[in-house]
Amino acid sequence: MIETAQQPSSALTRLADSPHVAVSGRSQRVCELPELLCKRYKIERLLGVGGMGAVYRARDLLREQYGDPEPYVAIKTLNEEFAEYPDANALLYTEFALTSRLRHGNVIRLFAFDIDPGSQRAFITMEPLKGPTLDQLLEQYPEGLPWPELRSIALPLLQALTCAHEAGVLHGDLKPSNVILASDGLRLFDFGLGQPLKGLLNSLPRLSRKRIAAWTPRYAALELLNGEALSSASDIYAMGCILYELSSGLHPYSRLTAKQAKVMEQDRTLQKPARLPTHCWPALRTALAFDKEQRQIDAQGLLDAFAAPRPGLWQRCWTRVTA
Ligand SMILES: Nc1ncnc2c1ncn2[C@@H]1O[C@H](COP(=O)(O)OP(=O)(O)O)[C@@H](O)[C@H]1O
Ligand SMILES: [Mg+2]
Repeated sequence: MIETAQQPSSALTRLADSPHVAVSGRSQRVCELPELLCKRYKIERLLGVGGMGAVYRARDLLREQYGDPEPYVAIKTLNEEFAEYPDANALLYTEFALTSRLRHGNVIRLFAFDIDPGSQRAFITMEPLKGPTLDQLLEQYPEGLPWPELRSIALPLLQALTCAHEAGVLHGDLKPSNVILASDGLRLFDFGLGQPLKGLLNSLPRLSRKRIAAWTPRYAALELLNGEALSSASDIYAMGCILYELSSGLHPYSRLTAKQAKVMEQDRTLQKPARLPTHCWPALRTALAFDKEQRQIDAQGLLDAFAAPRPGLWQRCWTRVTA
C-alpha cells in the first residue's frame, strides 16, 4: 500500500523525531535582513542556509493579531551574491510560481511571494518545518537505512516528484539537503533551480542554469554537465543517486560527477546495495544510467518498483535458484 501524504508511517515519524541540527554548517554570505518585513513578518532566527538562499523563522504579526495560535512562517530570501543579481527577484518568483502549481502533501506549501518596500528584498513565505534533512539523516545511518525506513521515505519522495513531473515542473536540484523529514510527513522543497516543461508557463523568465552555478555536480546527470537542457530524465538521475545513498549510505559513483564516473566505467561495477530488496534494483539501476537514452524510467516507474510488495521468502529463494 502506498502511504498517503498526510499520514507518515511510523518508521518515518521515528526518523523525523531523531535529533537534528537546523542550520547546515555552510559558509555562504547571508544577507542582512530587516528585522520586520512588510511591517508584518518579524524575523526570529535562521533556520537554514543553502547554496542560494537563507531561510528564517518569522512571526506573522497579522495572524497573531487575529489570535492564530500558530502564527509562524518560514521566510526564504536569496544570499548576498544572488540578491545582487539584477533579476534576483525573478529568480525567487520563478521558485514561487513553480512550487505553488504543485498541490501535494509531500511538496512544501508556499504561502506568498512579496517584496519588502523599505529594503526592496524579495522573499517567499512558506510553512515552517521541523525535522532533519535527508543529508542530516544519512549522517546517522552511514550504512544506509533498513528497508522499512527506506521505503517510508522513498514512497512519499517519489510521489512528490511524480506530482511535479505530471504538473510539468522539473525540480533541477534534487539532493538529500532539499528534502526534510518533518514530523507530519516528508517534504520536497527548494525548486529554486526548477523549470517548467517546454511550452508551459511561457511568460515566466527563463533563467540560465549555467549562470547560476549553485547546483551540486555529483547529483547532476551527464547531459546537464554537457550543457544540455534540464529534463525529467535529469531529475530521475538525481533521484537515483538519493535512493542509492539512502539504501547504502554511499553515493553510487563514489561522489564523482557522472562525467568522471563514466570515464572510469563505474556503471559496470555498480552493485546493488545490500539492504535494497532485489525487486527494486532493475528500476534503480536504470535511473542511474549515464546516458539519457538508457535512463528509460520515470518517477512513476520508480514509485511502482519501490511500492511493490517484497516477494516472500519462498519466491526469493525460487528466483535465486532459477536465476
Ligand atoms: N520551510 C522550511 N522550514 C524549515 N527549514 C527550512 C525550510 N525551507 C528550507 N529550510 C532550511 O533552509 C535550508 C536552505 O533552504 P533551501 O530552500 O534549500 O535554499 P537554497 O536554495 O539556498 O538551497 C534547507 O536546507 C533547510 O535546512
Ligand atoms: Mg537547497
